[in-house]
Amino acid sequence: MTSALFTPLTLRSVEARNRLWVSPLCQYSCEEQDGVPQDWHLVHLGSFARGGAGLVMAEATAIAPEGRISPWDTGIWDDAQRDAWARIVAFIHGQGSLAAIQLAHAGRKASTYREWSGTGSVPASEGGWDTVAPSAVAYEGYAAPAALDEDGIAAVVDAFGEAARRSLEAGFDVLEVHAAHGYLLHQFLSPLSNRREDRWGGPLVGRARLLLHVVRRVREVAGEDVPVFVRVSATDWLEPEGWTLDDTVTVSQWLREAGADLVDTSTGGLVPGVPIPVAPGYQVPHATAIRERSGIAATAVGHIVDAHQAERIVASGQADAVFVGREFMRDPHFPLRAAHDLGTEIDYWPAQYTRASWKARPALTADED
Ligand SMILES: Cc1cc2nc3c(=O)[nH]c(=O)nc-3n(C[C@H](O)[C@H](O)[C@H](O)COP(=O)(O)O)c2cc1C
Repeated sequence: MTSALFTPLTLRSVEARNRLWVSPLCQYSCEEQDGVPQDWHLVHLGSFARGGAGLVMAEATAIAPEGRISPWDTGIWDDAQRDAWARIVAFIHGQGSLAAIQLAHAGRKASTYREWSGTGSVPASEGGWDTVAPSAVAYEGYAAPAALDEDGIAAVVDAFGEAARRSLEAGFDVLEVHAAHGYLLHQFLSPLSNRREDRWGGPLVGRARLLLHVVRRVREVAGEDVPVFVRVSATDWLEPEGWTLDDTVTVSQWLREAGADLVDTSTGGLVPGVPIPVAPGYQVPHATAIRERSGIAATAVGHIVDAHQAERIVASGQADAVFVGREFMRDPHFPLRAAHDLGTEIDYWPAQYTRASWKARPALTADED
């Protein structure tokens, strides 16, 4: 069978071998708290590449130390981090996947404990730091941030640019700007967290200004060949007071003009405790709306766990590709299994694993050594 999911996708100068992609997944595993990715990250990301993913996106990686969600996050603000990423990227490439990195600043949601180490903000006595945001409005349960001034905002744009440069030096094929899940750039977008009255706040065009500056800077650094994605939360799930799907559609058009190639469509994360209708593929309609109304490529993510479900989303034109998170963690070989489930031929089953392929199954008993 011809599969839409397993049809390659060309973005600028790179081609993803299929449209089943690994969503960014924070591992909070830099035990030295220096932002340098470890063997854990190599095996974690490498196994998805071995498993046949078209694109493997590295986790939310901080563009500056104070932009880390937790002290254990990966970073890309220095050369030691870049060099450690380069080893991981080389392995991903060796397995035939594209390597992407999500560039991030957590803003008022920075300096928090990882799930298994505590809850809430990490105090300075335990390695935490003061956080920044568009306005001095805390996320419920976290320490209050300081509002960024003009110099602070300029430094954020510069840091995204430097992070993009180091990412390219490490060999990444795709750069993603993280503007979702209630982190710094989303905090600027949403009227619930951005109460500024200067040019970085107020109407939509003011609240979107920082994101557009960042994307233009990243595009400048990336040149013409490298795809730039933006992950957005398409809604705060608190409409009309919060950030809405209509806002996202408008800003997606501006993002396209600013040099972005694809909107990676997620939702939520700015405010806790809002009802979210979580169900299989519940964020797919948001991706479809962006794709159809903004004229930019868009991907869907969220509770996509099955080959046929993923195939339907891509084949029906609801999204250009799908990102998958937890199903990849449950089964890093999800694409190899999905190709079998869809009855489609792929030529990237790892040579070392050939005897485990479904095609080789009848020979199993005769072939043990
Ligand atoms: C352990 C874990 C870590 C995550 N880390 C990130 C991250 O670094 N950046 C991001 O944008 N989303 C992150 N997410 C969200 C996922 O990328 C994905 O959007 C979400 O899990 C929904 O997809 P799924 O149902 O396929 O898991 C994370 C989710 C999980 C479960």
